[in-house]
Amino acid sequence: NGTADTAAKGFVSPKADGARRPFVIGVSGGTASGKTTVCDMIIQQLHDHRVVLVNQDSFYRGLTEEQSEHVQDYNFDHPDAFDTDQLLECMGKLKSGQSVNIPIYDFKNHRRCSESFRKVNASDVIILEGILVFHDQRVRDLMDMKIFVDTDADIRLARRIRRDTVERGRDVTSVLEQYGRFVKPAFDDFVLPSKKYADVIIPKGGDNHVAIDLIVQHIRTKLGQHDLCKIYPNVFVVHTTFQI
Ligand code: ADP
Ligand code: C5P
Repeated sequence: NGTADTAAKGFVSPKADGARRPFVIGVSGGTASGKTTVCDMIIQQLHDHRVVLVNQDSFYRGLTEEQSEHVQDYNFDHPDAFDTDQLLECMGKLKSGQSVNIPIYDFKNHRRCSESFRKVNASDVIILEGILVFHDQRVRDLMDMKIFVDTDADIRLARRIRRDTVERGRDVTSVLEQYGRFVKPAFDDFVLPSKKYADVIIPKGGDNHVAIDLIVQHIRTKLGQHDLCKIYPNVFVVHTTFQI
């Protein structure tokens, strides 16, 4: 049975109607490692394709009044801080070609904006970015390619202090306290162990132009194969992975 053989070897068939299925990329890494910067560079280089970015941060659960009163005790780096079921629902819709409304999260008051959403349309490429996007197997299983941005902890902390004081309304003392109490332990417990799922590990984040060029070339090749599937629906595509 040829079909069963190819499936067993990791081949995937195109959708029966030959319609294009989006290529899903997961980008993980510690806080302030350069995930967003790397995503922006990939999106810029893929300018001739429709690419959308989905941030795991958008799915942070808003704090209750009571939690807000003790915000310094809240662990924003634990997997339970995110509404992963809602993330899965949005990603499922996007993968099946539907547009979705994604919540807008406010880092200053730790709540979701109740009135507005960000409308995200169906696209050729969906990039899902966040510290814990490789933690849950159901989220990992959505991805065709997984990238881990690897940046030294001291550089990340320095960037985090600057970003959180300038953009997220924090003071240096609270950033350092949160880092020691929650951010670093959760990185060691959840983020670093999920690095093993990555297909590609990028040292130096957005400074690594060689890695980003290679990744973009790989995505282009895959999108070319998707186009081939659309034209020749009976063609099977081999899924490969590579390591830098
Ligand atoms: P993440 O999405 O992983 O939190 P960002 O890409 O948002 O990381 O970067 C975090 C902060 O560090 C931002 O303020 C950004 O401008 C800065 N930054 C990111 N990459 C670099 C770099 N290569 N050199 C200097 N600053 C950087
Ligand atoms: O952009 P980045 O990947 O750094 O975002 C994740 C970080 O945001 C987490 O390390 C978490 O500590 C922080 N965060 C925060 N306050 C919130 C929500 C998240 O400091 N309200």
